[in-house]
Amino acid sequence: MTQIHRGLAGVVVDTTGISTVVTETNSLTYRGYPVQDLAASRSFEEVAHLLWYGELPTTTQLRELEARERALRPLDRAAAEIVARLPATCHPMDVLRTVISYLGTQDLTEDDGSLAANRAKSLALLARLPTVVAADQRRRRRLDPIPPDPSLGLAENFFHMCFGAVPAPEVVRCFEISLILYAEHSFNASTFTARVVTSTLSDLYSAVTAAVGALKGPLHGGANEAVMHTLNEIGEPERVGAWLDRALAEKRKIMGFGHRVYKHGDSRVPIMSQALGRLVAVSDDPRAVRLAELHAALEKAVFDRKGIHPNLDYPAGLAYHLMGFDIPLFTPIFVMSRITGWTAHIAEQLQANVLIRPLGTYTGPAQRDLPVAGRAD
Ligand code: ACO
Repeated sequence: MTQIHRGLAGVVVDTTGISTVVTETNSLTYRGYPVQDLAASRSFEEVAHLLWYGELPTTTQLRELEARERALRPLDRAAAEIVARLPATCHPMDVLRTVISYLGTQDLTEDDGSLAANRAKSLALLARLPTVVAADQRRRRRLDPIPPDPSLGLAENFFHMCFGAVPAPEVVRCFEISLILYAEHSFNASTFTARVVTSTLSDLYSAVTAAVGALKGPLHGGANEAVMHTLNEIGEPERVGAWLDRALAEKRKIMGFGHRVYKHGDSRVPIMSQALGRLVAVSDDPRAVRLAELHAALEKAVFDRKGIHPNLDYPAGLAYHLMGFDIPLFTPIFVMSRITGWTAHIAEQLQANVLIRPLGTYTGPAQRDLPVAGRAD
């Protein structure tokens, strides 16, 4: 009897040296470093270097990476026009997917599958994706794009390009922590998608474009947006019980809860929740405290009723709202971070490539003869 592993649940498809999720201890490490230590003391750019090169950068290496990232941020005219011209009715993830595809057509650096070529393309995407996301948010608000500021780090510059101002350091740090936590998570659906595309020896931009499509869905990255829609739908903490009764009776999935790998809590949630707490304390959003109460009440109610823990999207969704980003931008922000993990996996796949091609058990009709051609109706 062939054993079928629907959704590849529990299936180990390859080895990886990039990150590991230890479910027994609910811990996550990038290249051996606990993610909570990285979130406590390192910049997102340092984490990008760690994921790509296997080691944290020296001072000189970090300075070099930062200088190159800052220089690569501007979009060419055609890319900026694509952002401006795509219908505002389409989701910003569609804009991102389309622009990444376009950027692939413009990248004339040799694509020989070497680590050096891969890293150059990865850095170009890391630098340009925030410019795309920020320009998209602004045109949806009928505002002109703001050019990147090379004197600012990646996180600060993103705020600058979105709002024309950099918020308090606590807000920027909360955002940077979210980027560090979202950066990498082993063989999740979008990373696996990137590896499948790479395994055919297709190019990096094709793999990343496909990964964006996989991340968009609400069972994966799209959940951080869905969290905010849920909080808005409930409205007030006092309404959580009745809302949850109805949602569970309708067999709705509560977005931002549950995880395929973590069954006793997502290792990233305590770090992001603490950062969210600090953000609420400095927020000038008049609803911040009530939203935080509602957020905590829903978390408690879902655990009491279903025994299900929140995943990273749960605190990140509210954090992005309190930072002032529009809801459809939340998953593109996830892309700005996960681009590091995806491209590290693309490089790793290429280093020891094998075509990824699973089997399926056929359940259609038994073999049969063709009917006579031209049968009457
Ligand atoms: N709300 C309500 N019930 C849930 C939820 C949820 N969020 N998550 C799991 N369950 C229940 C299921 O209904 C199922 O119950 P049953 O056995 O009585 O039918 C049981 O828990 C197992 O759930 P599955 O969906 O089979 O678990 P799976 O491992 O396939 O799914 C997933 C994981 C897709 C993340 C799921 O928990 C879910 O849909 N969550 C909501 C979407 C979400 O938050 N996604 C973000 C993932 S993390 C990330 O991308 C950063």
